[in-house]
Amino acid sequence: MEKKKILFVCLGNICRSPSAEAVFKGLIEKEGLQEYFIVDSAGITDYHAGGPADARMQRHATKRGYNLTSISRPVDPITDFRVFDMIIGMDNQNIRDLEQLAAGTNAATKIFKMTDFCNHCHYEEVPDPYYGGDEGFELVLDLLESACRGLLNFLKNQK
Ligand code: 4NP
Repeated sequence: MEKKKILFVCLGNICRSPSAEAVFKGLIEKEGLQEYFIVDSAGITDYHAGGPADARMQRHATKRGYNLTSISRPVDPITDFRVFDMIIGMDNQNIRDLEQLAAGTNAATKIFKMTDFCNHCHYEEVPDPYYGGDEGFELVLDLLESACRGLLNFLKNQK
């Protein structure tokens, strides 16, 4: 079976999208489904390219058993829109930026918003935690855990 290729995207690729990558990988590992997926993350910007995930995000993720190992990189509009099946942004601005990067191609159909896969969260975006406190990082993880579960259910139902 062809692997499903999923790219999570946020602004800097140091808080939300590396966490989404780790949470989704944790879920598919728990279910023994790793062989069916390729999972990666990237940023709209290259501000933090080459660097590790934000130390605060890492600390909160570690407490829940997630190891954030990815190194920040910007979205590559040509390769990423060709290679990945789903490109999942964290907030409305990410979606607008991704749509702009995909303009003129048919890749816009690959763009999704993370909270669309949440079943019981009352949020329409995964809020940027970068300039806030601990509760923002915890909220990111709460939303991502719910959305990743919803995403996996969505993909299982597609088959
Ligand atoms: P992320 O968080 O998009 O979830 O990785 C941010 C990281 C860095 C910045 C903003 C948001 N920044 O302005 O540098």
